[in-house]
Amino acid sequence: MEHKKLAAFPSDFLWGSASAAYQIEGAYDEDGKGLSVWDNFVRIPGKTFKGTNGDVAVDHYHRYQEDVKLMAEMGMKAYRFSIAWTRIFPNGTGEVNEAGLKFYSDLIDDLLANGIEPLVTIYHWDLPQALQDAYGGWESRQIIPDFVNYAETLFKAYGDRVKYWVSLNEQNIFTHMGWQIATHPPGKKDPKLFYQVNHHANLANAAVINKFHEMGIDGKIGPSFAYTPQYAIDSNPLNVLAAENAEELGAHFWMDVYVYGEYPIVALNYLKERGLAPTFEPGDAELLKSAKPDFMGLNFYQTATNAWNPIDGGVENKDSYQMNTTGKKGTSQDSGIPGLQKTVKNPFVETTNWDWTIDPVGLRIALRRIASRYRLPVLITENGLGEYDKLEDGKVHDDYRIDFLKKHVLAIKEAISDGVDVIGYTTWSYTDLLSWLNGYQKRYGFVYVDQDETMTGSLKRIPKDSYYWYKDVIASNGDDA
Ligand code: NOJ
Repeated sequence: MEHKKLAAFPSDFLWGSASAAYQIEGAYDEDGKGLSVWDNFVRIPGKTFKGTNGDVAVDHYHRYQEDVKLMAEMGMKAYRFSIAWTRIFPNGTGEVNEAGLKFYSDLIDDLLANGIEPLVTIYHWDLPQALQDAYGGWESRQIIPDFVNYAETLFKAYGDRVKYWVSLNEQNIFTHMGWQIATHPPGKKDPKLFYQVNHHANLANAAVINKFHEMGIDGKIGPSFAYTPQYAIDSNPLNVLAAENAEELGAHFWMDVYVYGEYPIVALNYLKERGLAPTFEPGDAELLKSAKPDFMGLNFYQTATNAWNPIDGGVENKDSYQMNTTGKKGTSQDSGIPGLQKTVKNPFVETTNWDWTIDPVGLRIALRRIASRYRLPVLITENGLGEYDKLEDGKVHDDYRIDFLKKHVLAIKEAISDGVDVIGYTTWSYTDLLSWLNGYQKRYGFVYVDQDETMTGSLKRIPKDSYYWYKDVIASNGDDA
């Protein structure tokens, strides 16, 4: 479907950028903040690149006004950030920390005063350590009331000013890395527990969405899902089947539950056959079915290509979510579903220096697939290019990032012309920030931050070329991309 003339972006389109608390704030133990699982995990030797951690990160906690000022100068319409649960409840539950509530209240006010819509992520991976210690965090159903209590506190405090809420960020990734490949906390490899943890997260997500709707808050809520559209390497029916298996277990498995409250048939059957299906308790099915997000948050970075895998468990899969210690090319994308598919190289798409595919058409495909399967508006909550940026004579000439983003903006325009209701685009990321595992080697920002693995940088903010490019895009409502 090609369009002679593309539709314009809606006039209220949310042009913005995104971040996450642990990756930018620093001040990890200030003003009453409790410790999160990340504060501790990064201290285990060998877990992150040269032992980098978020103790200081890019010091947004102390410099948020400077950061908001730069956003305002850019003309940004929306800013997505996450709240650190441990600033609000140092122990995950119990006594509220007023200083933590105040920090985000001030940030929200500052954004609004500058005409920037705040988009709040309730959970971006920094679980209170106290809850992990008390009952295993997401491994227990006790997480459900604690997560609802935390979210409700945020709704009460900020619901009058915040209109867009992201419940869980990339449930598929934090559970994959935490319980399948052990590269994130709690660092486990336990396939059965992985699915049970996901079940608890699904229940907690549904309960929080219901709470939000019951409270009658004037706003919208939805999860952010890391969707990697799956392709078949060719039209060999077995390879097509492999791609469908990857969609079923890698995408429908989460998004169907968010929207329809049910696990998809083929995926559930696959898990049952292997004794991996989550255990339901009375009321679970009803809770999942009772909640419906107002939008689907989409984190889009890349696509993946599949071929049939005849050997159950016999394939050595690589994974893109590993630490890169070489400082060179990263590792390639592979989710790896034994017996159902294997991930292969797509000869039609280029890759980044971290070996992630560059596929703007894939974004159009992602938007269309979500719209037609789930019939929801889509908020693109992340998209961006992680690269080894270089500061030269006080400037960063990131034309590769401009090129990447330009093509993705055009793909969004095409998807809108196809009829998809896309309500916003918050790129990853606004400033450079701490990569969970890779320190500051991999940068995504419009604003360069003088920080590296020594964690002693000046923290000076320097707008990159892409900052000025995005400023024009916003001013022209997408026409000048
Ligand atoms: C998704 C995550 O939400 C974010 O925290 C991370 O840094 C980016 N992807 C890049 O990998």
